Amino acid sequence: MLDTMNVNYDTSIPNNVGLSEDRRILKALERWHPGYLDWWQDMGPEGFQESLVYLRTAVAVDPKGWAKFDYVRMPEYRWGILLAPQEEGRVVPFGEHYGEPAWQEVPGEYRAMLRRLLVIQGDTEPASVEQQRHLGTTAPSLYDMRNLFQVNVEEGRHLWAMVYLLQKYFGSDGREEANGLLQRRSGDADKPRMLGAFNEATPDWLSFFMFTFFTDRDGKMQLEALAQSGFDPLSRTCRFMLTEEAHHMFVGETGVGRTIQRTCEAMNDADITDPTDVEKVRALGVIDMPTLQKKVNLHYTLSLDLFGSEVSTNAANAFNSGLKGRFHETRIDDDHRLLDATYPVLKLVDGKVETVDEPALSALNMRLRDDYANDAGKGVERWNKIIAKTGVDFRIELPHPAFHRHIGEFAGANATPDGEIISEAEWLERRDEWLPSDGDADFIDSLMKPVWEPGQFAGWIAPPKVGIDNHPGDFEYVKIEV
Ligand SMILES: [Fe+2]
Ligand SMILES: [Fe+2]
Repeated sequence: MLDTMNVNYDTSIPNNVGLSEDRRILKALERWHPGYLDWWQDMGPEGFQESLVYLRTAVAVDPKGWAKFDYVRMPEYRWGILLAPQEEGRVVPFGEHYGEPAWQEVPGEYRAMLRRLLVIQGDTEPASVEQQRHLGTTAPSLYDMRNLFQVNVEEGRHLWAMVYLLQKYFGSDGREEANGLLQRRSGDADKPRMLGAFNEATPDWLSFFMFTFFTDRDGKMQLEALAQSGFDPLSRTCRFMLTEEAHHMFVGETGVGRTIQRTCEAMNDADITDPTDVEKVRALGVIDMPTLQKKVNLHYTLSLDLFGSEVSTNAANAFNSGLKGRFHETRIDDDHRLLDATYPVLKLVDGKVETVDEPALSALNMRLRDDYANDAGKGVERWNKIIAKTGVDFRIELPHPAFHRHIGEFAGANATPDGEIISEAEWLERRDEWLPSDGDADFIDSLMKPVWEPGQFAGWIAPPKVGIDNHPGDFEYVKIEV
């Protein structure tokens, strides 16, 4: 029997899916590989392709011990195909086919829908690498630089994960889609990436931390929903991706947390008690709380848009057909078909925000978004604990889902962060109170000076509590060639 727990490094593409016996797919992936490397050279981390980076690489898929750490040049990172082990007797856990054996091949009738789901997920992975490619040059420490590059190589691997499924199960269509994934570019006017938040710029490190906290968390929720899939290879793929994704959440949460920590400490040292005294706080060379709140407002709402329309036939179809489930589907105590169930949906009714019960099947995007908001909210509370501990009088809040939206029920509405509907004129007048202004961006940008001495950190961010792989504070996470 195939050893699916350990990763085989004998082929050019490390894998635990028996690629050496699956010549057709191995060949297809080998043909795709050079184009991927070209893409990585063109669009991957700028200026550090020759540097030795202390990266983790997967050597097994056992959640308890799957990674090894070593110095690697990023283009030599072993991007591989890694699926979580097959579960004996797994069934389709929801939808029309509830309880039937999980599929090892794509059901013909769902081919198009499944392909679409894979392509949309796959498109986000290289997009974030493209968005973050200039950040290495302004890294606030080698520790942070290494974390950025770790996230980047893993997003690259997530692209491989989707490309494997496309090539293995979708023949020539799949190969075409796999090539398309290397051709679109984040923010490009002619060939943009497929989803809005993945065409926004990530110009500075605070944006990067907010992105990994809020937007990678959307990724986590989508992967959680796809990990439930009745199409077993997709489920197994996503389950392993989630293991890696946890680190991306960690980078975002601790990155913002350390920024908050540093700001509060600097305020205390300077005896500043009013966190809204932006000028005084900024004079200390740290990022003031109101600006952090505005960044939260921006990145949270861009990420909410990724969940799509609150009421959606596509979402209902993907669930009915057993392709995309709910967050923690198997832990939910109901019929897993949602035949008569309803779900409360936030809507704009006659200019007012109201909750309307909709058929639960059509409201699955809303439900996943609620699960996301809940998950994100817990992280925000951990930030608030950091603030509270320092004695600074400020709380970060997630804005109301009607605020600053471009997709769904509230796309056309103007709302305050509290969810009060206002006029367009008032929105335009007050926008800069709620979202980062050009001036805020310039200020953040002014702090983005590289710090590359081992163990040193830029003045706007506190050092981490522990090092990666338990290394001491002055560990050289990236060896930069000069
Ligand atoms: Fe990813
Ligand atoms: Fe991620």
